[in-house]
Amino acid sequence: MADDVITLETVKIERDGGSTFIILNRPDKRNAMSPQLHLDMCEALDWAEEDEQTKVVIITGAGGHFCAGQDLKLYFRGTEDDPKARTRARRAAHEWRWNKLSMFPKATIAMVHGYCFGGGFTPVIACDFAVAADDAVFGLSEVNWGIIPGGLVAWAVTEVMGYRDAIYYSVTGDKFSGAEAAQMKFVNKSVPVDKLREEVLALARKLEAKSPAAVRYTKEALRSVRRMTKDQALDYLNCKSDALKHMDPENGREKAMKQFLDDKVFKPGLGEFVR
Ligand code: COA
Repeated sequence: MADDVITLETVKIERDGGSTFIILNRPDKRNAMSPQLHLDMCEALDWAEEDEQTKVVIITGAGGHFCAGQDLKLYFRGTEDDPKARTRARRAAHEWRWNKLSMFPKATIAMVHGYCFGGGFTPVIACDFAVAADDAVFGLSEVNWGIIPGGLVAWAVTEVMGYRDAIYYSVTGDKFSGAEAAQMKFVNKSVPVDKLREEVLALARKLEAKSPAAVRYTKEALRSVRRMTKDQALDYLNCKSDALKHMDPENGREKAMKQFLDDKVFKPGLGEFVR
């Protein structure tokens, strides 16, 4: 089973049970994102979406670092005189870091260690969960070299950071640690770096055990209602609940009802029904 993953130039894919690590793999360049890496990430996520064994996707970086942002040489300078190449790179960059990841139909976790700069923030924010090493180094460093946090970064940070923090770190370019990121809830939690993989996999195993349909519909519901009025949300959530009832191949709701109400073998407040 382990050999059926696809091979890509700048991205590595590794399985661990029902979870799949998608690894930015340019460690010599601190996983700075080149145009090729953006194309490879699009392909990797498409593959993982269709792969039946993959229940949870974990995004991380090779060589002890998450990502040093856009590749200044290949993404910026390399496409300066080639507008078509710039447009292609920009499209692919946005496609995987926001469109594909934020709409991904399975649970996603960003596992952040080492450096995470600039454009590397977007995939962390787009993932459902983020766990960092205490000593990870986050930085919105754009201001330090005279540009703005573009490519959606400025928008994305305000999705998860308080406005004061978003302005502070964007305008000063000050770094913050994984522990500080956890304090401000930019990530769910931080742990010592030698416990990071273990902690992420513990969360992944918990998610693997859930009903895939319920996970997907819950994610979709939370994402969508954020931008709705209360009345729109109520109507949408009623329809979404009905849709899940019909679209869940496991028929989880009926099984759970029977196990709780008739068989009395399951307490929904304390865990999952028997599959
Ligand atoms: N773009 C292109 N190349 C990058 C890069 C980036 N964003 N970040 C690192 N690299 C390259 C370096 O040029 C170097 O390449 P070389 O070996 O061919 O000279 C290699 O990665 C290692 O980087 P180096 O600076 O020697 O490593 P370091 O561990 O001392 O420092 C960083 C790492 C990430 C702190 C530093 O490279 C840096 O500040 N990078 C830019 C980060 C940034 O502002 N990103 C925002 C972009 S949107």
